[in-house]
Amino acid sequence: MNLPNEVTIWEVGPRDGLQNEPIHLSTEQKIAWINSLTDTGLSHIEVTSFVSPRWIPQLADAAEVFAGIQKKSGVMYSALVPNEQGLERALGVGLTAVAVFMSASEMHNKKNINKTIDETLPVLRSVTQTAKAHHSYVRGYVSTVFGCPYEGDVKIDNVLRVALQLVEDGVDQISLGDTIGVATPLQTERVLSRLLQEIPANRLSLHMHNTRGTALANILVGLTMGITHVDSALGGLGGCPYAPGASGNVATDDVLYLLHGCGIQTGVEEGKLLQSLELLQKSVGHSLSSHASKVHLAQGGESCATV
Ligand code: HMG
Ligand code: MG
Repeated sequence: MNLPNEVTIWEVGPRDGLQNEPIHLSTEQKIAWINSLTDTGLSHIEVTSFVSPRWIPQLADAAEVFAGIQKKSGVMYSALVPNEQGLERALGVGLTAVAVFMSASEMHNKKNINKTIDETLPVLRSVTQTAKAHHSYVRGYVSTVFGCPYEGDVKIDNVLRVALQLVEDGVDQISLGDTIGVATPLQTERVLSRLLQEIPANRLSLHMHNTRGTALANILVGLTMGITHVDSALGGLGGCPYAPGASGNVATDDVLYLLHGCGIQTGVEEGKLLQSLELLQKSVGHSLSSHASKVHLAQGGESCATV
């Protein structure tokens, strides 16, 4: 099998995971957890979201969280921004990496950010250009790449159109979202084959939710096609609040098992990741969905029940 030697993990749990948690963690709990993620050796952590607190109350303390975390040199701490107002808030507290986001399908885009695709593109162009003028790194999420909760199948041409526009507007990397976890390995191969004709592999990341248990299989397909960036959330936390039934991202701990087991380096220490997992489990107060966390508990790791 043709696999890369190294993969970069983009930990999105503090944003994608917590935005969908029914229990709101306190600012202090979030800061402690993000600090423990920093200790693991992760190089990219999406720490929060500067979206409307009315839409996502769980992350209303974005500024306080970013101000409170330890910033380790060499680690990229990013946050989601939907518009100029979000960018202004993010830049105001010193963020140097942001992520814009939109969907490849109209109805999910409308439910998630209250705009059509054509209304969204100029907003993201303006956010990207302002962010670049401030020397920020800019990621561009494309959601519903593999299927939409409202429209079903999504045409690859629609994905391509949005992704290419974001690249033209200046985003550094496109993260391809399987928002509702419907992708299969063959579909992943088909979508990536088309996108890789236009966008180099090192500017693409896979952001797979694991709703139907296919995320790791899809990631493996991506790796064989030259993808070296993978988004994941510790413990498999989260989902998208505007995608009914969507479960969490593929779990960082499970991705790590797959990668390290295949001899692929990540720079992340497994033992430290398990410590961070224990802290997360205590904070959310329930068990997590990842396979690795279940094995860890079965082998005597600390459970949330001990709190
Ligand atoms: P809207 O209601 O159309 O916004 O929401 P608006 O521009 O009309 O403004 C309405 C009010 O919101 C105003 O306040 C604004 O000031 C305020 P009022 O005057 O009524 O008091 N407002 C803001 N406040 C703080 N920060 C801001 C901001 N913007 C406006 N940035 C909006 C439009 C985009 C704001 C809203 O729809 C929103 O915040 N949506 C975010 C939804 C979200 O976060 N979804 C989850 C993340 S996406 C995801 O999970 C998918 C991903 O993981 C990839 C994948 O899995 O596929 C990335
Ligand atoms: Mg997501």
